[in-house]
Amino acid sequence: MQLLDIRNLTIELRTSDTVIRAVDKVNLSLKEGEVHALVGESGSGKSLIAKAIVGVLNKRWHITADRMHWRGVDLMRLSNEQRRKIVGSDIAMIYQDPSRCLDPTAKIFEQIAETLPEMTGSGFFLKRNRERKDRVKALIHKVGIKDHEKVLSSYPHELSEGVCQKVMIAMAIARTPKLLIADEPTTALESTTRAQVFRLLKSLNQLKNMSILMISHELEEIVNWSHGIHVLYCGQMVEAGPTQRIFTQPRHPYTQALLKSLPDYEQGLAHKEPFYALKGTIPTLQHLPIGCRLGPRCPKAQKACVVTPPLTKLHGHSYACHFPLIKAMK
Ligand SMILES: Nc1ncnc2c1ncn2[C@@H]1O[C@H](COP(=O)(O)OP(=O)(O)O)[C@@H](O)[C@H]1O
Ligand code: SF4
Ligand SMILES: [Mg+2]
Repeated sequence: MQLLDIRNLTIELRTSDTVIRAVDKVNLSLKEGEVHALVGESGSGKSLIAKAIVGVLNKRWHITADRMHWRGVDLMRLSNEQRRKIVGSDIAMIYQDPSRCLDPTAKIFEQIAETLPEMTGSGFFLKRNRERKDRVKALIHKVGIKDHEKVLSSYPHELSEGVCQKVMIAMAIARTPKLLIADEPTTALESTTRAQVFRLLKSLNQLKNMSILMISHELEEIVNWSHGIHVLYCGQMVEAGPTQRIFTQPRHPYTQALLKSLPDYEQGLAHKEPFYALKGTIPTLQHLPIGCRLGPRCPKAQKACVVTPPLTKLHGHSYACHFPLIKAMK
């Protein structure tokens, strides 16, 4: 079943004299039980898309879409209250900036306990309270927090960014949502905990059939267990399709550069080499190139690229480039 189906999502920042299109006609769909990766350099618009899906962008952003279907219901046509209800029960998000998303005035225990689903059954208050504590404890052990007494009785500002990130993950998975949007969920974590979090998310997908939209600028952690990859550059979806196909037959020069920055992509490349294949950096929204936004950095750019390339679709694989790569990668 199609869980999420987004067509031509556009997100603009409108000021008194300009309109800046931060996300430009993006398509994204995901079926029940699937894991999809949304990748692209910092500043591509990944977090904006995630926030638009859960409906938490503030009013400065103007959002339009031909459709934003959640299990067949168009979220764009719902009232805020109806939308909050759906999103609250079915979709959870791990925010990129956990310390800013946690409530600074409440202790961690209360914040996690609030996200737990209502307990069914009867029982004495004390017994229910005990059960609640046990469930919170079990949740934070799951995300790799061992020192639960100290963490649960702390306020967010008393904890490191890494621990806050784990707390955020615990809160997001507490209700076993149908869709988990994980926005760079492991950036503040050390490598062993990162691996543990990825294992946890993978098992939630496999055992609970939880769909995951994994946002990352790194592919290596998710490539082995994601069904699809969506590559975003500067607010435009440059390529999307089944993971294996994108990996073996990328058509867009930007995807190729991303893949080349992975470890072991080519023999002898032991470590990640960030974007050695592309010079320059992603432009700011105020200085977007016309036509294909990769133009100034693209080794294959030609005159025609000043016109925005159309999206070519081929067996579930789509890409937007006037001069796509032909050869399959090894
Ligand atoms: N609150 C904001 N005000 C102005 N520009 C913003 C704001 N948030 C994001 N942007 C801009 O929107 C673009 C996309 O940002 P974002 O979605 O955070 O990218 P990503 O998550 O891929 O790193 C960037 O150019 C960023 O500078
Ligand atoms: S359209 Fe042109 S500039 Fe854009 S990726 Fe393709 S070749 Fe490069
Ligand atoms: Mg982001």
